Amino acid sequence: MTKEDKTPWYQSRLGFGVIMGGVAAVSAGLAALLVNISERKAEQKVAFVRVVEVGENDTDPEKWGRNWPAQYDSYKKTALKTQTRFGGHAGSEALPEEKIERDPWLKRMFLGYAFSIDYRDRRGHAYMLDDQEQTERLTKPQSGSCLHCHASIMPLYRELGDGDAVVGFEKTYQYSYQDLHKKLKDSGHAHPVSCVDCHDPETMTLRVTRPGFLAGIAALADSDVPLPAIPSIEIWRQNGKKGTYNPNAEATRNEMRSFVCGQCHVEYYCSSKMPLTFPWGKGLKVEQIEEFWDEAKFVDGSKFVDYAHAETGAPILKAQHPEFELWNQGIHARSGVSCADCHMPYIREGAAKISDHWVRSPLLNVNRACQTCHRASESELLARVDSIQSKNYDLLQRGGAAIVQLIDAILEARKRGVSEEGLEGALAMQRKAQWRHRRRKQHGLPRASGSGSHSR
Ligand code: HEC
Ligand code: HEC
Ligand code: HEC
Ligand code: HEC
Ligand code: HEC
Repeated sequence: MTKEDKTPWYQSRLGFGVIMGGVAAVSAGLAALLVNISERKAEQKVAFVRVVEVGENDTDPEKWGRNWPAQYDSYKKTALKTQTRFGGHAGSEALPEEKIERDPWLKRMFLGYAFSIDYRDRRGHAYMLDDQEQTERLTKPQSGSCLHCHASIMPLYRELGDGDAVVGFEKTYQYSYQDLHKKLKDSGHAHPVSCVDCHDPETMTLRVTRPGFLAGIAALADSDVPLPAIPSIEIWRQNGKKGTYNPNAEATRNEMRSFVCGQCHVEYYCSSKMPLTFPWGKGLKVEQIEEFWDEAKFVDGSKFVDYAHAETGAPILKAQHPEFELWNQGIHARSGVSCADCHMPYIREGAAKISDHWVRSPLLNVNRACQTCHRASESELLARVDSIQSKNYDLLQRGGAAIVQLIDAILEARKRGVSEEGLEGALAMQRKAQWRHRRRKQHGLPRASGSGSHSR
């Protein structure tokens, strides 16, 4: 069976039951794929006994853990320290390593922005609220919008909006981080991402809750950019774009296995100058998001910018963590492979199989995260990933050095009397270069081979 014979994965996933037991020759030496998706998905159905009722205001995962102890136990493991060559975190148990010390060009690139003060390796979900509370970026004024992705905040949104979470959310950008954080503490919902954020408490089906994602994905659906990795949007468009695209009603279960992560692992803008924004109205590609920001305005009508570079004055666009956007462009997404397939693979718990809620690097778990689909040896898969990541890492370092040289050249030109008008082109290039520059150590499998999880 050749590649051409294969029904696109997502189509068969829509039918949910179509067997895809095909063998695909993967060009660059990965061995054959041999997978029966419907079987793999069906394994997931597990009976459970409800010991306690849980509802929309139960943000404490411990309570849910009484009904679903295996998922809760694995969820708690996100507090463990993990490290791979490029993933997880270096540094102590107390605090991950400082990226801006490890790569001084990062600090230079961010001068004029809070990321030049403190910017560390990320780590497991258990730490998301602590790490935000601790970051020295909070020595600069930050907005209440920060909490959208670092806490189980939906009940507080409802409280602020008299029952309407979206209304409550829309108020929060005007709060200072400290004020909204205090309200969160007082409300008793100061937990990191919790069961209720991804699951309907009645049915346990996946759902998305975050207003930023709901608005962003609706704007994306309303655009006309092709989205081969999100078939439910294509269908909603074909049916005449009725109302607003609502992922909780329209999306396939398989899409939801990525959407729940797209609530936070995205590019965004967050400050007191406008509500938290996911910039997807023109598409998810780097040029499309750039165009979105180029045209964006703050609430007061002034032109959107992340910050002015402290040395050159260039109006910088700073990319956050666009895992959802990068994933969307890779071969895995187009083949119907979700974030959860790699980051939450099935594990055996006695007689049952459950989704591993220890969300972490799949490289620590190649057997379950990759070998369910790829029949290559673990060492072969790891070597393949490492070679892609190494190439990307080298490009990242070269890009960093080039941006520093550009900054030096602009300063030198100014010293020699080049006019501000004459510098405009160079400043525009600084903005474009930095926007395209990946600032993290590494993640996923890049575009080098035209493929990958978060390809770019
Ligand atoms: C085909 C498998 C695959 C898919 C699908 C996938 N990822 Fe990944 N992801 C990886 C690999 C491999 C890494 C690199 C881990 C490492 O270097 O240790 C990674 C890294 C990451 C990291 C950084 C982890 C760290 O330890 O620093 C995050 C965050 C992440 N992925 C989120 C996502 C999100 C969100 C999605 C869906 C939108 C997704 N991934 C889809 C395989 C995948
Ligand atoms: C409510 C927001 C939110 C959601 C939803 C979310 N994440 Fe995260 N994720 C974070 C934050 C914040 C961090 C960084 C925490 C820190 O560094 O303290 C993180 C960290 C991670 C890491 C790094 C773990 C490590 O050990 O280094 C991975 C991988 C990851 N997330 C993948 C996912 C995947 C896959 C999903 C969906 C199943 C998901 N996340 C859903 C906010 C979220
Ligand atoms: C749209 C969701 C979202 C919003 C809003 C958000 N974060 Fe995060 N944050 C994440 C995710 C996802 C990660 C993990 C990925 C990464 O580190 O690249 C993270 C990581 C972090 C980390 C750990 C690594 C580091 O950068 O040092 C800190 C601290 C942090 N965020 C602080 C903040 C602050 C302060 C704000 C408000 C200015 C904020 N976050 C707003 C999603 C978000
Ligand atoms: C970041 C999102 C996220 C969070 C938070 C989360 N889950 Fe899940 N959970 C998932 C995903 C994705 C699946 C796979 C569902 C599917 O394929 O239909 C899942 C599946 C499940 C299932 C179905 C059986 C299984 O294991 O596949 C149960 C039960 C469950 N989770 C319980 C919990 C509990 C309890 C918590 C809190 C301790 C929790 N989840 C937190 C994303 C999440
Ligand atoms: C649910 C199934 C599934 C899972 C899980 C999965 N993959 Fe894939 N992977 C695919 C499919 C399908 C393709 C596209 C193959 C094709 O059509 O050529 C692919 C392609 C790739 C490619 C690109 C090959 C090329 O030549 O461009 C690499 C590399 C890869 N996968 C590595 C991994 C790694 C590493 C993991 C685990 C972190 C993983 N995959 C997890 C299904 C999966």
